[in-house]
Amino acid sequence: MPIEIRKHGRVGAEILGIDLARPLAEDDLSAMRAAFAEHGVVFFRDQSITEQQHIDFARHWGAININRFFTAHSVYPEIALVVKEPDQQHNIGGGWHTDHSYDFAPALGSILVARELPPQGGSTAFASMYAAYDALPPRLKAQVEGRHAVHSARHVFGSRAGAYEAAQDTRRDGRIGNAGAADLLDDPVHPVIITHPLSGKRAVYVNPSFTLHIQGLSEENSRGLLEELYAHCRRPEFQEDFHWREGSIAFWDNRATWHYAYNDYHGHRREMHRITIEGIQLG
Ligand code: SIN
Repeated sequence: MPIEIRKHGRVGAEILGIDLARPLAEDDLSAMRAAFAEHGVVFFRDQSITEQQHIDFARHWGAININRFFTAHSVYPEIALVVKEPDQQHNIGGGWHTDHSYDFAPALGSILVARELPPQGGSTAFASMYAAYDALPPRLKAQVEGRHAVHSARHVFGSRAGAYEAAQDTRRDGRIGNAGAADLLDDPVHPVIITHPLSGKRAVYVNPSFTLHIQGLSEENSRGLLEELYAHCRRPEFQEDFHWREGSIAFWDNRATWHYAYNDYHGHRREMHRITIEGIQLG
């Protein structure tokens, strides 16, 4: 039986008829590759995969990036733990972002597997940066076309990151505390509008968490233009929530989507396993 690709509302597609715990046929992999490039995020339900099978699935897409800032799984360092404990207020990913835009070769994508879910809440929202680009008003499109922006991890993971976090959760929110390493990172520059390396489609590639400023503009003009872009990209018609269930997996493309982890389940534990796949430099 061929796999079925079913659109997930306004963003993404669900892939049905596949068991990720079994060896994958080349036909199914190519159908998944096409769906991933087209929709920006793909979802799987009712899966039961081990940590090793999570790693094996990820290797079909590229080399695995070992996360420098998150706590690693104690046995499988390829897996970054995205955990919120019942007594924590702060969560990982609780603001619109795309993973690793602070790298010179930003990550291709991330595969998130639900391991422990709260009784309610804890969904993840996705926004399509393809759709955001397509709907850019001509004036805004003309303002950003050909421009480049500086991205950074230092204000989020570095030693001066305190302003972004609830103080009581610092270093208990799954980050491993190598702020010194983050302080030393150089800041990459990426096009504000990219041509997606897999789909060839145009997409907005700035995000509120990691983009610092647009080159060649004054601080004030850059902030104004980024705020206008973010307000546009956050429009509800480009977004869809994904409601996790036991056995759910999401695999998003970091060059085509933003995501946002809801922090609406205080007092409950949520544990997700994330593998991030290396990408290429964006031209
Ligand atoms: C992340 O931002 O990588 C985590 C998303 C989530 O936990 O839903």
